[in-house]
Formats: sequence, C-alpha cells, structure tokens
Amino acid sequence: MSVATLDGRTVRVALLGCGTVGSEVTRMLIDDADELAARVGAPVELAGIAVRRPDKHPELPQHLLTADAGRLVESDVDVVVELIGGIEPVRGWLLTALRKGKSVVTGNKALLSEHAAELAEAADTSGADLYYEASVAGAIPLLRPLRESLAGDRITRVMGIVNGTTNFILSAMDSTGAGYAETLDEATRLGYAEADPTADVDGYDAASKAAILASLAFHSRVTASDVHREGIAGISASDIGAAKLLNRTVKLLAICERVTADDGTESVSARVHPVMIPRSHQLAGVNGAFNAVYVEAEAAGELMFYGQGAGGAPTASAVLGDLVAAARNRVAGGRGPRESAHAALPVRPMGQTPTRYHISLDVADKPGVLAQVAQVFAVHGVSIAAVRQRDRLSTASLVIVTHLAPDAALQATVEEISKLDVVREVVSVMRVEGEDS
Ligand SMILES: NC(=O)c1ccc[n+]([C@@H]2O[C@H](COP(=O)([O-])OP(=O)(O)OC[C@H]3O[C@@H](n4cnc5c(N)ncnc54)[C@H](OP(=O)(O)O)[C@@H]3O)[C@@H](O)[C@H]2O)c1
Repeated sequence: MSVATLDGRTVRVALLGCGTVGSEVTRMLIDDADELAARVGAPVELAGIAVRRPDKHPELPQHLLTADAGRLVESDVDVVVELIGGIEPVRGWLLTALRKGKSVVTGNKALLSEHAAELAEAADTSGADLYYEASVAGAIPLLRPLRESLAGDRITRVMGIVNGTTNFILSAMDSTGAGYAETLDEATRLGYAEADPTADVDGYDAASKAAILASLAFHSRVTASDVHREGIAGISASDIGAAKLLNRTVKLLAICERVTADDGTESVSARVHPVMIPRSHQLAGVNGAFNAVYVEAEAAGELMFYGQGAGGAPTASAVLGDLVAAARNRVAGGRGPRESAHAALPVRPMGQTPTRYHISLDVADKPGVLAQVAQVFAVHGVSIAAVRQRDRLSTASLVIVTHLAPDAALQATVEEISKLDVVREVVSVMRVEGEDS
C-alpha cells in the first residue's frame, strides 16, 4: 500500500501531548506557519491537540483540545506527532496510526527502544514514515545522519554522552571534589535532576538511547534490555580523585560497537557505564547538561555531534525537522528512506566484550607485592599496560591500567586481587576508554 498524494490540500497534524516539548512544537507550528508551508510545499495545519487534562491548558486554542488521543489518531489527519512518552497506551495509538498509513513523529525513547521492530513493520506495510530524531540527544541531528548520510559507510563505533543529568552530576563532582549524594541533591535543587532521578542516574535513559543508536548504526535490532547497564550511584569522590591523578575524568557513556571475533563473526556490543577518559579526549570537554556523540566509520573516519540534549525548544527543533520531512513526503506522495535491520547481528554478552580497566589499590608497603598482584592478572590472561606505584607511611598505592581483555576476565581479576592479604583496599575500579589499547 502506498500513501496517497495530497493533491494540493493541507498536511493535517495531530499532536499527542503538549507538555515541555509539545508546547514548543505548538508554538513553532503556529508562529512559523507560513515559513513551514513554504518549506513543505503545502500548509501544515495543527488539526488537534490531545492532553490528559484539557482544562489545565487555557493557553492553547480551545477548539483544538481533546482528552481523547485515540479518537484524534483515528480522525482525518496525515501525521501524528507523539510527545506524551511511556509505552502504553501510546504504543497502541501509534500502531493504529501507522497501520492506517499516517506518518508518525515521536520523541519517545522508551517506546522506540523496546518496540521499534513492530512499529517499523507497521510503517513498512502501509508505506508511512516513522521518524524519532528527538528520542536521542535532543536537538542534535544524529539519527538521520546514521540512517541516511552514513548509509553507504560501515559504522564501527558510536560512543557518547546522551544523558544530561548524569553528565551534570559527574562534571560537578569533578570540579568541586564533592561526593555523589551531595552533588545529586544540588542537581535536584537546580532542576537538573528529576525528583525521582532513577531513570537517569541508574542508566535506564541512556540504555534506551544506546539501543536506538546501536540498531541504526549496525542495521540490527537491539532493545534496551539487550544493553548492559551500570549507573553512576556507585561513583565516589575517590574514583574522581583517582581519575584526576592520571589526568583523566569520569563520564557515563553509551558505547555501541561492532565487535569482530577471531573467526570473523560479527556481533554488537551495547553498554552504558561510567568510564575514565583522558582529559584531552573530545568527550571530556562536554560538561553540564550538554550531549555529545562520537561516531567512527570505516570510510568517514571520526565524527563528533554536539549540542543540547534536552529541553523544550531544542527538542522541538528535532521534532519539527522530522515533521517537515514527513510532510514533504506526503506532498510528494512517497515515503522517506526506511531504516534497515538486514544485518541482524547478535548482541554480545558483556562478559565477552573487550574492555580495559583502571584499578587503584592500597597495598602493603613490602617487597614482592607487585609480583603477587601481577600473578593474578597473568592467571586470568589479562595483560597490564601500565603500573604506577606511590609509597605512603605503611601502605603504598598501586595504579594499574590493563590492555583490552574480556570484561568477565577483568571482573574475576579484580575479585581475586581484592582477596589478597597484601591488598588493604581496592580504592577504585573503572573501565577506561579513549586511548590506544
Ligand atoms: N523534555 C525533554 O527535554 C525531552 C527531550 C527529549 C525527548 N523527550 C521525550 O518527549 C516526550 C514528551 O516529553 P515532555 O518532557 O514534553 O513530557 P511532559 O512535559 O510530561 O508532557 C507530557 C504531555 O502528555 C500529556 N499526556 C499524558 N498522558 C496523556 C494521555 N493519556 N492522553 C493525552 N495526553 C497525555 C500531558 O497532558 P497534561 O499537560 O494535561 O498533563 C502532557 O501535555 C517523552 O517521550 C520524552 O521522553 C523529552
């Protein structure tokens, strides 16, 4: 089935949700109507706005408001813009829209990271567009470059800061030396963290975005539950201090990689966890609520995308970009480039994913300690890239950075080292990124 040409009539848009982002989308659709019409080639008309409590929105055109989002989706509209969030009942409404040939624009990472396959299938069957640029990294044009501009290249890695709340907290801990709990309180007070910060600080939000990025970059279906996830609640002032001593900083990164095994088989590694990166790395300079994503592709080389990762107006920019694209396709009577999942690469378990560790230990200050510690690394097949030793009164500090090894082998090494009599304390353990292995 193909989507009908509009034959000169307007593109009718249903907006589901008019909160932080939806209200900015409404403003831009009304204020910039003439400009948008010129860009699309037909007027873009806001046909209805669904909110939970219409009586709480005296600022909106009252004749457009409804509490019945399902009915609005079924009405005579061409594009459904969804800015409510969450999975149900939104999933059902968007499937209905796509099955009826209406294009969908959404910023819903929770939905896309779990249900992209069925939504894309519904879009493919009816010939409608499904766009979700706003679901990852707010204003930053990222999904379209992955899906379209880099469609002819082979992406090997996508790595970035995709959660502003955790980046704000880690940046503040780095600059003040304060601990996690007190910095989170400050972030909440300043409005950078939600009253319930779980989705951000435990890495769920970043894991949803990693799933979306990995799926597009590697032409495979990766869901949020496939993504290995660790948050920042365990990061201490000592971790930040240990990083500083090595001229590094700590960031929560979403890392999506194409991993090639010795026998040539390929898989996808998708993970979210704190890492130490050199202060000279481009991502180290991304502070506060900003997002940045670093993409490596075989022919293009290294690319970096940077900008505001959230907020009403920045996110509305990404939504409007998708809406203009979907509306133009309507006017032309076709659909835009579809995403592909043809490679269907399997997801590599975290334990088998090659990573590097930084381990900072307080050890007894006596001969033979380094040899005992090094022996544990050897037993687990982990090779050491660098060792730094510093003497104190009766203990010494030992800082070890490893070469790449399977994450499970590194975990086992740390566990065994922590049990050695000569090890007084494991001060900090963190994965390392952004330098040669
Ligand atoms: N905020 C950001 O910076 C940002 C950035 C990137 C992506 N996003 C994504 O964009 C989406 C919207 O985020 P937001 O921050 O704008 O959310 P929000 O401020 O909480 O707004 C949600 C809107 O949805 C409406 N709504 C809730 N349940 C509804 C229902 N059952 N039927 C009809 N309307 C309903 C609400 O109505 P009432 O107004 O009547 O309560 C409200 O207008 C989410 O998927 C989010 O993940 C947000």
